[in-house]
Amino acid sequence: MKNLKWTDALSVGIEEMDDEHKKLISLMNELSSKCETVAPKSEIGNSLEGLVSFARKHFAAEEALMTSIHYPDLEKHRRAHADLMNRLETEEKKFRFSEKAVLDDGFFSFLQFWIRTHIQGNDSKYGFFSNNRPD
Ligand SMILES: [Fe+2]
Repeated sequence: MKNLKWTDALSVGIEEMDDEHKKLISLMNELSSKCETVAPKSEIGNSLEGLVSFARKHFAAEEALMTSIHYPDLEKHRRAHADLMNRLETEEKKFRFSEKAVLDDGFFSFLQFWIRTHIQGNDSKYGFFSNNRPD
C-alpha cells in the first residue's frame, strides 16, 4: 500500500500542529509497513497502540488550541475526533482479541483518507482562523 506523504499542501499554518501531523502520518506509515512485512503480532500491536495514543494526545492538543483561540467550530471538530478515536479503539480491540495477524489495506485506505481530508478540510480552518485573528 502506498504511503501517505506529508507535503506543504497539508500545512495548517501552525508549525507545532504540522509537526504533530507529520508524526501521526509517520506512525501510520510505520504501522502499515509492519503489516506489509507481516511483523510479529506483538510488534504490530505495540505500533498500533503507539498510533492510537499519539492520536489521542494530538487531538487533545488541537482541542486545547481551539479552545484557547475561541474557535467557533470546536464542538463539530471535537466530534470528528471522537468518531475517529472510536474507530481506532474498536480496531485495536478487534486486532488484540482475534486471530488477525495484520491490519488490512481497507483500514489503511480509510485512515489515510480520513487523515488527509480531516487536515485539509477541518484542521486548516482552525489554522486560518488562528492566523487571521484581529490582534
Ligand atoms: Fe483535527
